[in-house]
Amino acid sequence: MSDKAILEFGGSKYEFPVVQGTENEVGIDIKTLRGSSGMITLDPGYKNTGSCESGITFLNGEKGILRYRGYAIEDLAEKADFLEVAFLLIFGELPNQEQLHKFHEDIKHESHVDEEMKKIINGFPKSAHPMGVLSSLTSALIAFNPTSVDVASEEAMYSAIVRIMAKFPVLVAWTMRKKMGLPLEYGDDTMGYVENLHKMMFKRPNKEYKMNRVVIDALDQLLILHADHEQNCSTSTVRIVGSSHAGLFASLSAGISALWGPLHGGANQAVLEMLEAIAADGGDTNKFMAKAKDKNDSFRLMGFGHRVYKNFDPRAKILKKAADEVLGDLGIEDHILDVAKGLEKVALEDQYFVKRKLYPNVDFYSGIIYRALGIPVEMFTVMFAMGRLPGWIAHWREMRLRGEPIGRPRQIYIGENSRPFAAMNNR
Ligand code: CMC
Repeated sequence: MSDKAILEFGGSKYEFPVVQGTENEVGIDIKTLRGSSGMITLDPGYKNTGSCESGITFLNGEKGILRYRGYAIEDLAEKADFLEVAFLLIFGELPNQEQLHKFHEDIKHESHVDEEMKKIINGFPKSAHPMGVLSSLTSALIAFNPTSVDVASEEAMYSAIVRIMAKFPVLVAWTMRKKMGLPLEYGDDTMGYVENLHKMMFKRPNKEYKMNRVVIDALDQLLILHADHEQNCSTSTVRIVGSSHAGLFASLSAGISALWGPLHGGANQAVLEMLEAIAADGGDTNKFMAKAKDKNDSFRLMGFGHRVYKNFDPRAKILKKAADEVLGDLGIEDHILDVAKGLEKVALEDQYFVKRKLYPNVDFYSGIIYRALGIPVEMFTVMFAMGRLPGWIAHWREMRLRGEPIGRPRQIYIGENSRPFAAMNNR
């Protein structure tokens, strides 16, 4: 392979180095393009733009491959737990028993949230969307913790990471408890990370909390499957906010807002609402398919399509199987699962979807499992954020340690040319 790419324009030739990743992905390094030619590249939505080199997650959309730090998502989802995966993503290697124990102990030590935070959460109306509340609370944490991290200090970096890994599940639980009118309580240090999250979310006053292994394992798997997905919208947001040297918590809060949108993490809530609407309408999937294909209708088949996966989303495959298993183990019959399977079958045979390579994505089946676990629909995207937390942290850490420059894209200006100021009485 040539190590140079050549661009010809206006009678001049420009040469650019070619970079190759460890999975043989090739990129043209255009850092010198503007300096040498005065031109820039234009790529709305960054469909062909690599914003960084990263060693965290590899995905191949054509082959449906997803790996965290080289490990297949299928193996991690089956054999690891969420805290191990978080450690792997953030620090690069699977932890041994001692490292995992220390990580968990350090997290437990930081698992309190300042009592003053309760005043902030209680200031929200019950009707507030949990994602807005979570984003605000994450930002509010800054007031009670160091605002910036000395990235040159490994200790300071570790301490910031442990703090947010510890406090975020409390915020997630409080966000749900506020919505449900339950008292805001703290966790139980004797439990595992995910068990504790579940207990914090569901413990009822005056009632003993009983752990259900099927529920915890399902939650663990969901969190692992959502833990990272390279340069998606929210992760890119975390990186770009962090690139201005804003602190970790501020960058994460911005990432939560980016995740909220229905084209991104908000799709899991939208999927369930869509499936319920189809069921309420008598289960006629064809009607909704027609709407999804109608270019004059803004409706999209939620949970279908992906910027990168053009074959299948390996996470959706795992979750489809898990949905059957979890509902079976919990003895739940949910007609929504049948609607989802019917819709998937119709879509996968429809030429509109086949031609555009639109397959079910991670959000298509996740909501059905969340629902079986008793998690309210409006909390679905919050659960996605809980899972994505280690991915965001890993990317923020990588970006800062690599000393990446501030993210600042350019534009092609298409506005008015210079014109004289119009006085008020002349407009
Ligand atoms: N329903 C109907 N048509 C669709 C859909 C869909 N779900 N997704 C894409 N298309 C069509 C789109 O209209 C376009 O058609 P045409 O070529 O005729 O103009 C073509 O497929 C390509 O779509 P695109 O919008 O250019 O593709 P994209 O890479 O910009 O968007 C996407 C990817 C995920 C935003 C999009 O597929 C979508 O909106 N899906 C529904 C929302 C969803 O499920 N989001 C979750 C994504 S996975 C988890 C996550 O990222 O958080």
